[in-house]
Amino acid sequence: MAQLTVLGPRDWADGVAQRLAERLRREPRLRLCLPTGDTPSPVYERLVALNREGLAPFGQATIVLLDEYVGLPPDDPARCDARLRRELLDLLEPGPVTFHAISVDELAPDAAAEAHDAVAAEGLDLALVGLGLNGHVGFNEPGSTADSPTRAVDLAGESRRAATARYGAGAEPTRGITLGMARLLNATDVWLLVSGAQKATILQRTLVGPISADCPASLLRGHPRLRVLTEEGATAKLS
Ligand code: F6R
Repeated sequence: MAQLTVLGPRDWADGVAQRLAERLRREPRLRLCLPTGDTPSPVYERLVALNREGLAPFGQATIVLLDEYVGLPPDDPARCDARLRRELLDLLEPGPVTFHAISVDELAPDAAAEAHDAVAAEGLDLALVGLGLNGHVGFNEPGSTADSPTRAVDLAGESRRAATARYGAGAEPTRGITLGMARLLNATDVWLLVSGAQKATILQRTLVGPISADCPASLLRGHPRLRVLTEEGATAKLS
């Protein structure tokens, strides 16, 4: 049974950041999987502020990137690694944090996925994930099952368009690499971050609809320690 935490729209990002900071204080050597996107951006902004106040110690944490586009050049601002560095990692003091990006420049996609999976297989204490409008988690697009491995995937149209339209990629990527559902379901804790009224329908499907590969996020309900951190706008369709 998922633990549902509904915050006010204005307190949401701070509430998530405070909870993560508290976890880092308790467990400084946390191995943490992080997403990028519009949902976590304000959370990262708050985490940087908390870090400056000495309240979010990342110095001993290990960060494992959730997913990455294939085919975007290293300087493309929409790259997940670039975005996470820009919004969080490069702003943390004191560093360093150990950051495992996905080796899409050095390795062929299948080899990069395998190498990244080996990193995640060392264990994830906490996986933070966002929710796609089509129910995807990372780049586990609809059709992904609970045993999906970490792999290179074809991106759904929505994910391709988001890269250019929302995240400013120079060219529309067609493929990505993602931690698989199996790896995410193996994390000790999973926090699903959901904000914005545009997510109300898919959040309802995720939490109340059938548990099915049609909505990969619904598969997270099989995790014994799933926590959904959301805000009032996104919960409009939950009774
Ligand atoms: C990004 C990722 C995606 C996003 C999802 C929601 O690393 O894995 O699954 O979490 O598409 O995106 P936003 O937060 O931009 O609405």
